[in-house]
Amino acid sequence: LSQSQLDLQMLSTTPSTSSAPGGPRSFGSTSRFEPITISSSQQQTKDHFLIPNHYQDCVSTVLISHGMIMDRVQKLAADIRAAYTGKTIHLLCVLKGGSAFFQDLQVCLRNFHQFSKQESIPFTFDFIRAKSYAGTESTGTVKVSGCDLEKLKGKHVLLVEDIVDTGTTMSYLIPLLATYNPASLKVTSLLEKRTPRSCGFKADFVGFSVPDEFVIGYCLDYNDAFRDMQHICVISKTGIEKYKDGVP
Ligand code: HPA
Ligand code: MG
Repeated sequence: LSQSQLDLQMLSTTPSTSSAPGGPRSFGSTSRFEPITISSSQQQTKDHFLIPNHYQDCVSTVLISHGMIMDRVQKLAADIRAAYTGKTIHLLCVLKGGSAFFQDLQVCLRNFHQFSKQESIPFTFDFIRAKSYAGTESTGTVKVSGCDLEKLKGKHVLLVEDIVDTGTTMSYLIPLLATYNPASLKVTSLLEKRTPRSCGFKADFVGFSVPDEFVIGYCLDYNDAFRDMQHICVISKTGIEKYKDGVP
């Protein structure tokens, strides 16, 4: 990333400087509100939650319940709103994984229009398709499609992602989008993974930091399975085996 691309990324948020000592090379946001850290020991027995029948044996544990997701999305919406005072946000939903988060986020932003007495923050949106995962592995290459990138010019673009894992998708997408001259370019991701495979990319508004497990549910998929599950869960060995060739 060039310095100008980094600068684009780092426009105005309330600072809380995070520097992981000895951590990965850091680029992307350096000043942000920190996410909620979900530790491995916080995994919940799946029997305490309603899991779809067709996924019972495919789920190992529940990592983040749907209720917790919804509460956190509300706060992210408020943080985002505060960072875009006087601007119009252009949400760019990264399909398909980001679609549930995008949907709930825009409901929250719309609710502010209706119920908040503060200045309203208008928003527009579009969708972009990016694919870098096959099964549980990052392929290292990113395929992008579905959005007229010329339309990003002059807009305050906020990418809406499900998860920053290795960071491959974002470290490809951001320089690409920056060449279309948006007024600013930031990223909100519901999850970020604590993994040694991270390239060091940090999103600006992050919901939860999760352990290095393959997670599914709330539109996060394994070969397109599990998007239709409410909670964010850790996949089981049975799940990996059962959907290794996709959903029949
Ligand atoms: N789950 C689902 N999709 C993903 C993940 C994950 O853990 N990491 C990157 N894409
Ligand atoms: Mg995916």
